[in-house]
Amino acid sequence: MNEMDDIEMWDAAAEPYDAAVDDNWRQCHITNPALFQLLDQVEDQDILDAGCGPGWLSVEIARRGARVVGIDAAEQMILRARERAKDAPQNIRFMQADLCSPLPLQDHSFDGVVANMVLMDIPEIDRTLAEFRRVLRPAGRLVLSITHPCFFMWNWKRDAAGNKLWKPVDDYLTVRSEVIEIWGPTRHYHRPLSWYFDVLASVGYVVDMLLEPTPDFERSAETGHVWRIPDIMVIRAVPWPSS
Ligand SMILES: C[S@@+](CC[C@H](N)C(=O)[O-])C[C@H]1O[C@@H](n2cnc3c(N)ncnc32)[C@H](O)[C@@H]1O
Repeated sequence: MNEMDDIEMWDAAAEPYDAAVDDNWRQCHITNPALFQLLDQVEDQDILDAGCGPGWLSVEIARRGARVVGIDAAEQMILRARERAKDAPQNIRFMQADLCSPLPLQDHSFDGVVANMVLMDIPEIDRTLAEFRRVLRPAGRLVLSITHPCFFMWNWKRDAAGNKLWKPVDDYLTVRSEVIEIWGPTRHYHRPLSWYFDVLASVGYVVDMLLEPTPDFERSAETGHVWRIPDIMVIRAVPWPSS
């Protein structure tokens, strides 16, 4: 399956993804607090929302006072992002662009690049990360959230009552991809954690923060499992000055 097929799948997923995104409790209560902690102040800054999907994060960052460019390869995502931003501040621009190709953006034009739940969806990330580095200003930062590479691929083992017990992790070190079904079929690229760190280092970043966040609400019987095995990981990387 080639890259174009991946984007077609995201085009087809745009409607169910957009319909579900505002009520996504993982995003709202686990990922977002960590994402905004690592992104920090954005007021009066230029921020690139890479793989922006239906644009909710671009809108949120613009509301915090940043100038935002959102890019996504899926036309249906970009159309939804423009619709969503209609009533938002005027400081957002959306562009259809492929993160696997050179980006139509100037060198050193952003204070921050954020890619929320994107890198595990694209086939080759070294060029993508190099492009992020090219468009970042020297003091800029890259904030990434990804499904947790150590656990995401494996389904929970449950007891007779359906309680989540543990995950049978196996074949973790093998880089591979598979089509998963959440909002219809999309392709997920599994790589071990060290693989991400190797690519980040090879492209000239140093990781200065890594979070395995838990929810911002009280632990309950239904949600207790995310205190035991994290679903997601949020990484901040900064350009390594000497490279
Ligand atoms: C899980 S969604 C995340 C969307 C958004 N960042 C959010 O927070 O809701 C992954 C997004 O990556 C986009 N994407 C996948 N491959 C891409 C590529 N090669 N270039 C640009 N965007 C891509 C998809 O179209 C989709 O919008």
